[in-house]
Order: sequence, then C-alpha cells, then structure tokens
Amino acid sequence: MRILFIGDIFAKSGRKAVSEKLSLIKKKYDIDFVIANAENTSHGRSITIDHYNQLIGYGINVMTMGNHTFDHQLAYITLKNAKWILRPYNIKNSTKEAKYGKGTILLKLKNKSLRITNLVSQQCFNKFQTVNPFVALEKILSCAKKSDLHIVDFHAETTSEKKAFLLHFAGKVSAILGTHTHVQTADEQIYNNTFFITDVGMTGPKDGIIGAKVEPIIKMFCGKSKYFKMEPARGRYQFNAVVMQWNDQTLHPEKIIRINF
Ligand SMILES: [Fe+2]
Ligand SMILES: [Fe+2]
Repeated sequence: MRILFIGDIFAKSGRKAVSEKLSLIKKKYDIDFVIANAENTSHGRSITIDHYNQLIGYGINVMTMGNHTFDHQLAYITLKNAKWILRPYNIKNSTKEAKYGKGTILLKLKNKSLRITNLVSQQCFNKFQTVNPFVALEKILSCAKKSDLHIVDFHAETTSEKKAFLLHFAGKVSAILGTHTHVQTADEQIYNNTFFITDVGMTGPKDGIIGAKVEPIIKMFCGKSKYFKMEPARGRYQFNAVVMQWNDQTLHPEKIIRINF
C-alpha cells in the first residue's frame, strides 16, 4: 500500500505543479491514495470550492489545512460543502470556525480502514482559537473508532514541537507528517513503526520566499516597511511530497521516499 502526501499547495503555481505532475508521480510510484495539504491553494490563502474541485479532478483524494484555513472569505463554503477536506481538529469547539467541516475522517482503502487527522500547533499565528494539539490527539486515540492506519498532518512552526509530537505518539499512529514551514527537511524516517518527517515542504513557487513574492518581504526585513502584503511569487514551481509504503498484508511500514523537484 502506497500513500502520497503533498506539502502545502501554494497558489496558481502549486495548482499547476499538481496538474502537470501528479498523474506521472502516481504512475511512477504506484500510488493508491493521495493526501495534500491545501491551506494555501487559493492565492496563498485557504481554498475556494472551485479550486477544491480542481484538485479533486487532478487526483487528490483528501485535503488537510492549517493556520490559513479561514483566510479566504469563501473558505467557509468549502468547509461546509466539500466532503474530502479536513480543517484542524483542535479548533476550539465553542467557536464559529468549529462549526465548519471536520478534523478527522475514517475511510476504507483496499479493505483496510484509514483515519486521517489534521492538527495545528498553538504557536502557528492562528486567527482562530485552538486547544492543545497533544491533548486533542490523545482524545482521538482514546475515544474515536480504531483504524488499521492513522495518518496525522501536524501543522506546526517549530522543529522541536514536531519532534516532541513524534516521540510522544510514535507507535500509536502510522504517520506524523509536519507541514507549514514550506521548507522540506531531510529527516524522513520510520521511528517505532511511525513514518515521520519534520516538514514535507511546499508545492508552489520555487523562487519566492516560502511561496510569496520577494520584494515586499525583503523591504520589511530591511526595516523599510513594517508590514507586507503577501502576493504569490511567479515563475518556476517546485513539487514537495513523501511516499509512504506499508506491507499490503501486515501493514508493516516498509519505506518512506522524499520527493523534491
Ligand atoms: Fe502553508
Ligand atoms: Fe501554515
């Protein structure tokens, strides 16, 4: 069983990368199922229902989100209507945002059950209220229906928090995949039967600053402006992802392949 996980799809360039490369990658690695973080799909901010449908058409099966989940005013419509999208599970229950979408999903894949969960760090500059992601995953593990495989997208800023997440949950879930920093790390591994990478990276503009247009950001870092207006960069794209392979019979994790081109 092989599952592909694509790092944050960023704006038009990211959508183009998926449209041009996904079917080739699926064929090359014999992929059974595709998950993608889609929090930056629409101009870098969340995802509209049209872009969601576009990505489903390109062959993505389930999408996860992050701190940018509600940055686009049309995101609420997407979360309300789209079946195959997750927002962070640990959005505080009493808030408006928690009424839209779901944070964990259980589905069937090749006669096995697969759970996918999306969590966000509390250090992610979220514009919505959250509860502790460690406590949230503990709750899923103790209360939710058990599954053969459980893949977690942990959307977080710091390498330390992601490593702590691995060491706390290794052996209890099948994969912990870091997203959010848009810079792919080279530490993919299998630790105590759990696939892990600190950050899968980003699928979108190659020559921007983690996806965004360069000049306004440099201006800000040089002290010439206090804020910047984020615009997606143009030009070449990059494709960042990982392939996870489990034994079809035993579901023992066999290998993880990092994709970066
Ligand atoms: Fe992102
Ligand atoms: Fe993010």
